[in-house]
Amino acid sequence: MTARSSLTVVLAAGEGTRMRSSLPKVLHPVAGQSLLSHVLRAAPHGTGASLAVVVGPDHQAVADESRRVRSDASTFVQRERLGTAHAVLAAREAIAAGADDLLIAFGDTPLISAETFERLRAPLKNGAALAVLGFRAADPTGYGRLVVENGRLVAIREQADASAEERKITLCNAGVMAFDGRQALGILDEIGNANAKGEYYLTDAVAIVREKGLEAVVIETSEDEVRGINTKAQLAEAEAVLQARLRKAAMEAGVTLIAPETVYLAADTKFGRDVTIEPFVVIGPGVSIGDGAVIHSFSHIVEAMIGNKVLIGPYARLRPGTSLGDGSRIGNFVETKAAILEEGVKVNHLSYVGDAHVGANSNLGAGTITCNYDGFLKHKTLIGKGAFIGTNSSLVAPVKIGAGAYIGSGSVITKDVPDDAMAVERSPQSVREGGAARYREIKMKAKATK
Ligand code: UD1
Ligand code: MG
Repeated sequence: MTARSSLTVVLAAGEGTRMRSSLPKVLHPVAGQSLLSHVLRAAPHGTGASLAVVVGPDHQAVADESRRVRSDASTFVQRERLGTAHAVLAAREAIAAGADDLLIAFGDTPLISAETFERLRAPLKNGAALAVLGFRAADPTGYGRLVVENGRLVAIREQADASAEERKITLCNAGVMAFDGRQALGILDEIGNANAKGEYYLTDAVAIVREKGLEAVVIETSEDEVRGINTKAQLAEAEAVLQARLRKAAMEAGVTLIAPETVYLAADTKFGRDVTIEPFVVIGPGVSIGDGAVIHSFSHIVEAMIGNKVLIGPYARLRPGTSLGDGSRIGNFVETKAAILEEGVKVNHLSYVGDAHVGANSNLGAGTITCNYDGFLKHKTLIGKGAFIGTNSSLVAPVKIGAGAYIGSGSVITKDVPDDAMAVERSPQSVREGGAARYREIKMKAKATK
């Protein structure tokens, strides 16, 4: 049997006013990625799967994010916000293309999983016209209630339209639905707006399916998976759920987390074997960590490639564009940015390495600073293999330090240093024999006569 094709329509035209933010709601991040991107990644992918995102009229950024995450996404603008069914029909053109399954999801429900989308599609294969994702709400207030009679889903009643009796129902509509693609448009086009809010409710699809003598079913999931985000507090709750999942998955994959509840991961963090992460580490998006690497406490890492057996921190900050070769070491209070460090490089203390390429086995002493910015432009520092940069050196970019070169401590290097050369840039040291003793005598006398 050939696999059924699918179209997923993600509704993201929400205003998100309760976030009290100038950022569109669905672009707020959890686990280092936008709410929307979590949904787009969970939606069916690959051959036979297409994707449409419905965005608000002033939300170019939401359309851009959709295409960044899923290059196959088409986007549709819902000009007026007239309800969830109206929003779905903004993507009429995509729906009319006639995929076997039409899936609907909300852009502000980031915890939904790929498996749940598949579970929801299963009844369509067996002839159901509509499958609705339901959950048992701890507090059902505000949700659409699933009205089940004799074990069959007959309607969804929105809070504003529900009777006192119906409001007692705790089985609620999560918002995710799957329609049989051949019947979807016919059903959606019948939805009206004669209800308490005067909106076109997607949820009315259930009663219409019933009137047509077709089958609508409920697939249940946990409340955690379908949390919708409307406020910053709910954003933090979703973050907690996602972090718990990511930590568990990391440990199942063999990562040692000494105090998992203190470690923050991103949804795309990649781990090798035998990685150890100490307490209080924050890992942002775009990080891969090689075999046997150890991340010591209080390190902050974003968009960085970490090789095998690398030691990091404590208190290290790896910024975007960092790449650390196998066996390299980044010690305490070291910051790196757009820096490629080949294997065996050591930067053990108090340094800034930015816009730099450091050859294998070089050693950057405490307080080495690449002066990459002249106030107008950024410049590169190139350091060859096996170089030794003495403590407290400033490397004023653009500058090239040759392989095997040696920089004397405290130097401000503004000119290129050839391979195997020694460069020292500092005033000659003067030593006055007995000078300290004489200085003390003068000062003590002055103090005594005061
Ligand atoms: C909706 C469901 C309700 C369900 C709940 C789950 C309807 C009528 N009600 O209610 O049964 O229990 O979600 O969270 O579907 N949107 C648009 N354009 C619109 C209206 C909404 O894009 O014109 C988008 C929103 O951005 C959001 C989603 O659709 O992502 C749901 O809309 P929302 O207003 O939050 O619906 P609820 O009242 O929560
Ligand atoms: Mg909602």
